[in-house]
Amino acid sequence: ESAEKEGYEHFTLKEIHEQPKGVKETFTRRLDKNSNIVLDGITITAEDLKNINKIYIVACGTAYHAGLVGRRAFETLAKIPVECDVASEFRYRDPFIDEHTLFIAVSQSGETLDTLQSLREAKRKGARVLSIVNVVGSSVSRESDDIFYTWAGPEIGVASTKAFTTQLTAFYLIALHFAKLSGSMNDERIKEVVDELKMMPEMIQSILDQSEKIQKLAARQFNNEKVFFMGRGLDADLALEGSLKLKEISYINSFSIAAGELKHGTIALIEDNTFVVALATQDKLYEKMVSNIKEVKARGAHVFAIAKAGKTVIEKSADEVFYIPETLDLLTPILAVIPLQMLAYYISSIRGNDVDKPRNLAKSVTVE
Ligand code: G6P
Repeated sequence: ESAEKEGYEHFTLKEIHEQPKGVKETFTRRLDKNSNIVLDGITITAEDLKNINKIYIVACGTAYHAGLVGRRAFETLAKIPVECDVASEFRYRDPFIDEHTLFIAVSQSGETLDTLQSLREAKRKGARVLSIVNVVGSSVSRESDDIFYTWAGPEIGVASTKAFTTQLTAFYLIALHFAKLSGSMNDERIKEVVDELKMMPEMIQSILDQSEKIQKLAARQFNNEKVFFMGRGLDADLALEGSLKLKEISYINSFSIAAGELKHGTIALIEDNTFVVALATQDKLYEKMVSNIKEVKARGAHVFAIAKAGKTVIEKSADEVFYIPETLDLLTPILAVIPLQMLAYYISSIRGNDVDKPRNLAKSVTVE
């Protein structure tokens, strides 16, 4: 087993560091030499797409959080209405599904039973089923009409890391592919996003190279009883993932909130020294996030913010700022999740937890 860890103390840390490679594998196999997107496993035509008036993205856990980002990618790039739900809820809510629905299942293992049963239900009602799966030949992939395999490689750590960033890559590519099919984006604009996507492996690596900063932060903040994650827009989606990552491996009571909702309840819980992780990577929401940081600071919070390089105004209000490289707003989750994963990892490891196999959790949940 130690040989398989290749010098890393845990599989989780190894897998966090494998993300530049995983993301790169996931897109390079889908770009021809002119950087056109070619998705072999997806046979949906322009005509088929005209017939689709709604997308449901359904998944569990971290894959669900990837789905939330995917929803915004489809809406922004491909202009298709999308709903995203956790599989254990979707199945029991009588969703409107017919032959004009595209159902997208997201699953690392391809064996999560709730996701699989949701897929079967959607199929029974006439939906076309596309899946984003990591394990080749898994149940979810076998029962799908269209498949996009992520190339994360085997993920051993129970807490999902590299599967997430490859799932995001998958969503960006599929959304761009649909944008091309439907004509909602011109070739030039598509190329701009693809070119930026190609920068992601390098940018992720540049964040991993700063792991010492996060390690030091973890050494100061590992003893908290509660931690809040907040953000707006895509950062609100990512706050969910940051919070899940922390709670599942560190056992700290962590919450996440869309920052605009703070004043409707959660701010009552902010006290002196409450640790707040504030995600502020979205240009159009940046000022609003700075205001939210001021609100929690005024109640005594200790704020660790994540922002894009060059956006330094935030330093006046947050206690500490970690900068991710400048990129398109839509792509920031693929970068901003890295410090969140590292924070969860180092806190868990300092607390002496079994990082790769956290208590009470399973890698793949095959019960309903
Ligand atoms: C379990 C794992 C999570 C994972 C979720 C969905 O809860 O602990 O890390 O995100 O299942 O798994 P899937 O294989 O469907 O992506």
